[in-house]
Amino acid sequence: MTQDELKKQVAAAAIEYVKGLPIIGVGTGSTVNFFIEMLADIKGDIEGALSSSEATTQRLKNIGIPVLDLNSVDSVEVYVDGADEVDPNKKLVKGGGGALTREKIIAAASKKFVCIVDESKCVDVLGKFPLPVEVIPMARGYVAREMEKLGGRPVWREDYFTDNGNEILDVHDMQITDPMEMERIINDITGVVTNGLFAHRDADVVLIGKGDTVETVA
Ligand code: A5P
Repeated sequence: MTQDELKKQVAAAAIEYVKGLPIIGVGTGSTVNFFIEMLADIKGDIEGALSSSEATTQRLKNIGIPVLDLNSVDSVEVYVDGADEVDPNKKLVKGGGGALTREKIIAAASKKFVCIVDESKCVDVLGKFPLPVEVIPMARGYVAREMEKLGGRPVWREDYFTDNGNEILDVHDMQITDPMEMERIINDITGVVTNGLFAHRDADVVLIGKGDTVETVA
């Protein structure tokens, strides 16, 4: 199977988790884009969706699914999103597409986070994929120096602004053996808006596209 076929396969498996739900959370990225396409078939059941990015908002609107304001929603049953890396404990690195802050907010507000990946995303230790850190623009240099102290090699994602008007440092060479602690330490650096570690609010279910099967880790 090609990587896109694996992504389609896990996207289809995730549809089973949202059938019959009036409000769902929708992530960002190429795997989720397949999921959004498939939502078109069940959109009659969906009152609205919470979107994690402007890109996803556009795609949802294109298929006629209303996008809701999280402030007007009391509870979200299920959030479906991809990841850049997944470890055996369902801890994730996300934010390759730059949408990490809104993704983390919707994941936090949702009862169940279903993460959909192809097997290339599975690692034993997080950190091979550069860890995205969203920063307030004036703090970029300061945060970069603090990340160097943590052993990372921050690279500014030049000419890129998040949907929130902030900038991103992609931090290379991190060996994240304790994701919970590292997420907390990075969040404590002044000027950091969000980091791409999803350890405190990790995935509840990871669907992994492997060969012609989907493995479920729950
Ligand atoms: C977006 O900011 C990311 O967190 C994505 O969820 C992640 O990069 C996975 O994207 P793909 O499905 O395109 O690999």
